[in-house]
Amino acid sequence: MAAGGKEFVGPYRLFHLVRVGATFEIWAIQPIGENVAYAMKWLPPGKKHTRQAMADLKHEYQVGKSLEHPSVIKTMDFGTGKDGTYLTMELFKTPSLKQQINEGVERLHYRLEEILSGAALALEYMHKQGWTHRDIKPDNYLVNEKNEVRLIDFTLARKIPKGISKLFGGKAPVQGTYSYMSPEQIRGKEVDARADIYSFGCMVYELMAGKLPYTGTTSADLLNKHLKARPQELSVVQKNVQPDFAKLVHRMLAKDPADRPDSLMEFYRELKAGRCFHIKPKPPLTPEEEAKRKATEDEGN
Ligand SMILES: Nc1ncnc2c1ncn2[C@@H]1O[C@H](COP(=O)(O)OP(=O)(O)OP(=O)(O)O)[C@@H](O)[C@H]1O
Ligand SMILES: [Mg+2]
Repeated sequence: MAAGGKEFVGPYRLFHLVRVGATFEIWAIQPIGENVAYAMKWLPPGKKHTRQAMADLKHEYQVGKSLEHPSVIKTMDFGTGKDGTYLTMELFKTPSLKQQINEGVERLHYRLEEILSGAALALEYMHKQGWTHRDIKPDNYLVNEKNEVRLIDFTLARKIPKGISKLFGGKAPVQGTYSYMSPEQIRGKEVDARADIYSFGCMVYELMAGKLPYTGTTSADLLNKHLKARPQELSVVQKNVQPDFAKLVHRMLAKDPADRPDSLMEFYRELKAGRCFHIKPKPPLTPEEEAKRKATEDEGN
């Protein structure tokens, strides 16, 4: 049963808690009387149920509902009432890309091209629809064993400013995740697709190198590095990367948006042409293969 003793929220039955976040809970749910499973992002009634949190969830619903792409999570329903506020979506039960990075990036390398293709196409689609995501990071990509990808979490998404409105964009509040945040986002400027391309570049760097382009001892130190520092050359931290691909990732990380690729298609084409790693990475050994390898090694000693 759910926290707070709830078993039903709106016309849905909560049956499995997926994750408790800072503000929202993610549940696997079933519409009453139907034998299908969906996911619910739920803001339970209580202290956290502020106007702002509710508006954020509604915004996320409205953005999600306008998107339809195989690599973007499918958003379904929204409701608010005595059970709090919720949105429902397709259930994609798999660890996030961040959780998989934490298991060791080497384990992902043999399937990285496929994962990144889906991830890039999802974001490119959002941009084509006129949205910036503004919180691109591996926590917001879900990836399953078949390398199918879902981009999630549209809380911070904004319409890309067009034409004259670009000139009148005021100072925006700094929102996003510091480790992946573009210099213009840090400066509170209006951002366009190229800010997401920067964040995507940070994620690709992390996936290839096993570490982020920048870390800091304090948030100020980290943000300052995004503004001023140069990341270590990708080809130094990942010897198996092809030089042109490394250059492209560094261009995505350019401080000035004008120096970045202006869409993800260039990145996608490089990937598809197989110009990522020099030597194709092998899948990690299964536990049985690992045991066998160890036994042979021990025999040799
Ligand atoms: N449709 C879904 N199917 C399965 N799991 C999901 C789904 N949506 C979200 N999750 C799980 O919940 C986590 C958090 O989701 P989301 O990014 O939307 O929330 P959040 O507001 O960022 O929460 P937090 O800031 O606490 O991480 C995801 O990383 C994933 O593990
Ligand atoms: Mg998130």
